Amino acid sequence: MFPPAWVTLPVVAGATVGDFDVHESVDGVDVHVLADAVAGYLSLEAAERDYGVVSATSASPMRSCGCLRTIGSITGRRATCAARKERPMETASSALFGKVALVTGAARNIGRAVAERLARDGANVALVDVDAAVEVAARELGHGADVIALRADVNSATDVDRCFHEVVARWQRLDILVNNAAITRGAVRHFLEGDEAWWDDVVGVNLKGQFLCARRAAPLMAAQGGGVIINMSSGGATRAHRGMVAYDASKGGSEALTRALALDLAPYGIRAVAIVPGLIRYEGQAADSVRAAANTVPLARMGAPADIAAAAAFLASDDAAYITGATIVVDGGLLVQQRSPQAETFTVSSFPPLTETTTEEGR
Ligand SMILES: NC(=O)c1ccc[n+]([C@@H]2O[C@H](COP(=O)([O-])OP(=O)(O)OC[C@H]3O[C@@H](n4cnc5c(N)ncnc54)[C@H](O)[C@@H]3O)[C@@H](O)[C@H]2O)c1
Repeated sequence: MFPPAWVTLPVVAGATVGDFDVHESVDGVDVHVLADAVAGYLSLEAAERDYGVVSATSASPMRSCGCLRTIGSITGRRATCAARKERPMETASSALFGKVALVTGAARNIGRAVAERLARDGANVALVDVDAAVEVAARELGHGADVIALRADVNSATDVDRCFHEVVARWQRLDILVNNAAITRGAVRHFLEGDEAWWDDVVGVNLKGQFLCARRAAPLMAAQGGGVIINMSSGGATRAHRGMVAYDASKGGSEALTRALALDLAPYGIRAVAIVPGLIRYEGQAADSVRAAANTVPLARMGAPADIAAAAAFLASDDAAYITGATIVVDGGLLVQQRSPQAETFTVSSFPPLTETTTEEGR
């Protein structure tokens, strides 16, 4: 039997060792890497339950390409998925060509923009949201990418399980998880008026939801030899918002979760990173509210959802291969300010104008 602490069983139901590429030889023994496995499980019992695996032989750990993989032959009695011998061709110029992404909270705003950007960069994308608008978002995504919409509550383990089953059934892998879903504007409530249900809802969706999705994604990614988990945090993780105790606590937890995931998952080739969006415009936001917010930002504008999507696309790509455990702030300089612009004594209006004299020294 396998040491349960680290073993992931990449299972292709109905597949035998012959279905997999022979990757390399170790000590004269052929090593069969389950390169295109469809599911990772932490116990044989779970694999048995979901895929009807009846035997797993000669599995042993191997360090390959810096990550742990489980090797061996696995036989299933229910052929629910076909074994695939070939990885997608990675010859397209798009940075994420052939990758599979799952983005939560993808019905609108930041999540939708992230899904759209990942699809534009070549990924196949599952858009997950509790709101029916996710179906419209998926339809409108375009870019010729393979896209699906899944209605689900990320605070429900059953819903999350269903989503991952759908992704595995369709694409047999998962490379990128973007934990973006959150209760945001709906979370605002003064602490003295907050109750247990408010706390449970906000922390449940914003933090437990990220845990539930990561828990399903990690074994899949480990079985493939890697992946990336991107958690959407907030400035509230490190600086408080008024009226957002539960939200800020959930985002503090999200950043702690990200760091801890990074450590636990690094040996499996899985990176975990957090993004802190600044003040990002949302659909239907009134123009004077956009102007007022822009006045508080050093770069003098609110962020667009596409600004966050660009950061997510970078973090998901191989260009970010050495970034894990980090929190990337995408906020136009909002958080580095010691004073709010309203309280600032050295105002922008007293900055030197760009004249011949001020630019001369740079020449
Ligand atoms: N917009 C900003 O200025 C800003 C700033 C900092 C952090 N963030 C973070 O960025 C992320 C996206 O922000 P946004 O402004 O686009 O949020 P939003 O409220 O516009 O969208 C959130 C999405 O999550 C979905 N959702 C809510 N509960 C869900 C659940 N239980 N299961 C599945 N989906 C659910 C909603 O239906 C919605 O589509 C959030 O994590 C938020 O905390 C946003």
